[in-house]
Amino acid sequence: MQAILLLTVSLCLAAGSLAKEPHPCKSPPLLEGSLALAILKEKTFGVERFAYNAFDERVHVRVLLDIDNKTIYSDTLILYKEGIAFEIFRHNQTCKKVPFKDHWKPVEIPKDAKFQSQVIIGSFSAPGDGLLVNNWSGEVAESPVKYLITFTEFGCLPVHGWYDMPDQTLLSMSFYDIVIGVEDPDIFIPPSFCDKVELNSDRETTSLFDALMRSL
Ligand SMILES: *[C@@H]1O[C@H](CO)[C@@H](O)[C@H](O)[C@H]1NC(C)=O
Ligand SMILES: *[C@@H]1O[C@H](CO)[C@@H](O)[C@H](O)[C@H]1NC(C)=O
Ligand SMILES: *[C@@H]1O[C@H](CO)[C@@H](O)[C@H](O)[C@H]1NC(C)=O
Repeated sequence: MQAILLLTVSLCLAAGSLAKEPHPCKSPPLLEGSLALAILKEKTFGVERFAYNAFDERVHVRVLLDIDNKTIYSDTLILYKEGIAFEIFRHNQTCKKVPFKDHWKPVEIPKDAKFQSQVIIGSFSAPGDGLLVNNWSGEVAESPVKYLITFTEFGCLPVHGWYDMPDQTLLSMSFYDIVIGVEDPDIFIPPSFCDKVELNSDRETTSLFDALMRSL
């Protein structure tokens, strides 16, 4: 009798742990990587190199975009705490400094995101063939933007994001080659030729997306 009870309890425990839903998680505070960007309505495609620093709340992005047969390059450093964004033009050593009005958005699954599914990208038939990921959906706070995001189960790293923007614009971001940690911490410091540049208060950047599209 006792043995059966024990067996039942342990079976229940096993079933419980299998059925356990993943919890929203936060990515490591220092990351570097690349992402492929597609803005589907505007037929814009691009690649982006990013460096992310959640301690100082800084993000550095270099984007190469292909829009209407034009290739556009931008290099942007955003200092969230200071409320400033720098557009950096290294080829002629100039810089634009604009107010940046947005609160810090860590790389994470938002706490109110809804768990959708756990899937394997690739296969688990042989070691190294697959990646276990979780899909989450939700709505960006204070905006009409809906998202479907995929993060790795282990490590909490972003894999993919779909963003349903206003005007039927669909934004897709595929992350790859992510490294934990940042090789060159100076990437978060404005280059010296930006030092004397005055803040251009005529312009204002209100989001990372806005900053990336600013160069168009
Ligand atoms: C883009 O380039 C292709 C090939 O050069 C051309 O056929 C097409 O009309 C161009 N599209 C636009 C929007 O300029
Ligand atoms: C530097 O290059 C940028 C982008 O090409 C351009 O907008 C800016 O006017 C240039 N600045 C000077 C001083 O040439
Ligand atoms: C989960 O995410 C993966 C990778 O982005 C995608 O291929 C798959 O269709 C998603 N599944 C569901 C049920 O949302």
